[in-house]
Formats: sequence, C-alpha cells, structure tokens
Amino acid sequence: MIDARPFDPEQIQRAYDRRSWLYGKLVAPFEFRNHRRAIAKAKIESSDKVLEVAVGPGRAFLEIVKRIDRNNIACGVDAAPGMLALARRTLEAAGYDNFDLREGDARELDFDNGTFDVLYNAYMLDLIPFADIPGILAEFHRVLKPGGRLVLLNMSKRDDERVSWYERLYGGLPGSFVLNVMGACRPVLMGEFVGQAGFVGVEREFVKGVIPSEIITARVG
Ligand SMILES: C[S@@+](CC[C@H](N)C(=O)[O-])C[C@H]1O[C@@H](n2cnc3c(N)ncnc32)[C@H](O)[C@@H]1O
Repeated sequence: MIDARPFDPEQIQRAYDRRSWLYGKLVAPFEFRNHRRAIAKAKIESSDKVLEVAVGPGRAFLEIVKRIDRNNIACGVDAAPGMLALARRTLEAAGYDNFDLREGDARELDFDNGTFDVLYNAYMLDLIPFADIPGILAEFHRVLKPGGRLVLLNMSKRDDERVSWYERLYGGLPGSFVLNVMGACRPVLMGEFVGQAGFVGVEREFVKGVIPSEIITARVG
C-alpha cells in the first residue's frame, strides 16, 4: 500500500465541491453495484439508526433510507457542501424526507457516543493519509452502539504483494491531476486498521471490476 498524497482536508473539500456534479454523473454509477453489495452486508433493519459518513452524491444514502421506516431518520455527513446539496436532491427527487444531512469531518463526528446501529462509509478512507485513519476509525467506533455494525467500501486491490500500475500513476502524476481527476484516491486494505481500532469479527471481501474494491464488515464488541 502507498500512502495518500499530502493534500490537506480543505483541498480535498474544495476538490469534491467542484467536481460533485461530474462525480455524480461519471464515477458514482460505476461504484453503485459495489454499494448495493456492501449495503446488503449491513443487514439494515427498518428501526436501525444508520449513519453514512461521506455521502457524496447520495446514491448509497438513498438505498439506506429506502430500508428504514418512514418515521426513522437516517443521518449523513460529508465535508463538501456541493455533495450534500446533490445528496439532498437525490433523496427529495425519490420522495424521501426522513434524513438529516450535515456538513462535517469524519475526524470529528458531531454525534454522541453509542448513537448508531450501523455506520456505512464508502470510498473515503482511500483518500485519507494513514496517519489520520486510526483517529477516524476511533470516531466510527465511538458513535456506534455496543454490537453496532461497521461497513466500509474502499478502492482496493486483491492483496498487498506488489505495487499496482494504478499506485504507480497515483504516486507519479502531478498533484493537481491526482486531486482533481483521480479524486486523490488510491487502493487501500483496511482490515488490519479496523481490527487495531478495537472492532471485532472483521471480514474482508475483494470485489473485482472497473473500480477494484474491498468490503470490510466488523462490529463493536
Ligand atoms: C470518492 S467520494 C465518495 C462519495 C460516496 N461515498 C460514494 O461512494 O459515492 C469521497 C467523498 O468523501 C468526502 N470526504 C472526503 N474527506 C472527508 C472527511 N474527512 N470527512 C467527511 N467527508 C469527506 C468528499 O467530500 C466526497 O464526497
């Protein structure tokens, strides 16, 4: 695995703000199949309290909201206001209003300890530097209830035996290209990090495809 290029959180937020519409049209459709597979693993019950961190254009968030009661509220957070506006439109166009979408940073979630049954996070840890990942996973652990389920979907690779062509490009191309075209994402394997953050029952599935990905499931013991 290679580390993320050193973009600061404001650069990431601005880049995703600028490219929110394009991301929603060009990238998100390729990832949707993986989201459906990952969300199925969350085994969401209609009364579950669910948080999605980094909702992006809201396609996965809509799938989550469809699975809960109309009088239950799903929560979503994203760092980029442009993404949140898109997500709101996605949900409203589908006729849903039982959601709470807020601007925020995964490093410091504005929710009480033990609030959620399920936390879903997709294609975000792959743009976060390794140094920040333990703190983010500690936040995920903190806001989940005892027994709460974590589901992560990340850009990934089958194993960590060799540096892939994508990682070589990611490491070698100009920073502005990596940030604005590649979305600052590189393949990661998060299973060990999740175990080290205190989660139990950690499992990983590798998913081949246009965007090779991993689905990590785990729970709070
Ligand atoms: C590659 S997109 C994925 C969006 C969505 N999860 C999906 O799969 O379509 C990355 C998203 O993470 C958000 N993001 C990046 N860093 C974040 C952070 N530290 N906290 C919250 N959101 C963040 C970006 O604004 C962007 O919407």
